[in-house]
Amino acid sequence: MPAASRPRVLSGIRPTGSSFQLGNWVGAVRHWAAMQDEADCFYFVADLHALIDTPDPAQLRRRTREAVAELLALGLDPARSTVFVQSHVRQHAELAWALGCLTGFGEASRMTQFKEKGGGSVGLFTYPVLQAADILLYAADAVPIGEDQRQHLELTRDLAQRFNARYGDTLVVPAAYQGREGERIKDLQDPARKMSKSIGGAGTVWVLDDPKALTKKVRSAVTDTGREVVASPDKPGVTNLLTILSVATGRDVPALQDDFAGKGYGDLKAAVADALVALFAPVRERYDALVADPGHLDAVLAEGAERAREVAERTMAAVRERAGLLAPAPAHPTGAA
Ligand code: TRP
Repeated sequence: MPAASRPRVLSGIRPTGSSFQLGNWVGAVRHWAAMQDEADCFYFVADLHALIDTPDPAQLRRRTREAVAELLALGLDPARSTVFVQSHVRQHAELAWALGCLTGFGEASRMTQFKEKGGGSVGLFTYPVLQAADILLYAADAVPIGEDQRQHLELTRDLAQRFNARYGDTLVVPAAYQGREGERIKDLQDPARKMSKSIGGAGTVWVLDDPKALTKKVRSAVTDTGREVVASPDKPGVTNLLTILSVATGRDVPALQDDFAGKGYGDLKAAVADALVALFAPVRERYDALVADPGHLDAVLAEGAERAREVAERTMAAVRERAGLLAPAPAHPTGAA
């Protein structure tokens, strides 16, 4: 299908942690890969957003490249999708300023990410506005993201509508978020909390964990009282393991429960470990090959940035014009009278 008749999809991920974790793959990246044939996809590594933690510069640079390699290893295909680094497209920061001027102080204060940290930098405060710019620059119809990003998408829709109401129809309002229930991955050591990069202990499965580390983490996962392998609210640990097994194998939870009738938690853990190793071992291999070839990564990113800039500049030119920013006069040779 030609790009013009396919829906536009955009999403981003921050280059934090030492790798992506299982929850990033389940909640976001596996959907990104699956959408590449039906949609005109733009996927980026959000290095500007990563600056809110003021990471070590050398580490941020390295991790940004690794994050790109990881996305490619997880199935993003630069021949079908535009894969790029956020800071390579200056229009993100430029549109964020214009949108920030339409965002209420109270509105930004109510965003949970800011509220939960109880303050911080102006960058943290305006984080959702930059994210809105990321999305609106590419006229995205849909934004596949984890459940925790729903509020950011709602702000994005509000800002697009506000811009259009103030200046005339300019920005595409992305579709409301439609997440899947029941596929939220929890920490293996504390199944009451979602798995996250920031916890990052023995309860977090990294996409790039080696098979030994991965198996060990699954084997020491917290389970529940009783012995039956069933998903239920009073068995959060077992439910989490069944959910992981379900997304890793593509079998639904009821079918898995039947498989494990008469078996125990140890069998379940062994199956989960095997499934995750089968899933991620090839990813690790592709990742190793990709980081060993920096020239190839550079070429992918140069091409991605070029394609992204073209689309972003089209939107930004319309925004400047609508908002009344004076277009610069064409340069003329110095000395010409
Ligand atoms: N805030 C997102 C996260 O933490 C990352 C992100 C930045 C993003 N810009 C985006 C996601 C634009 C979707 C669209 O996961």
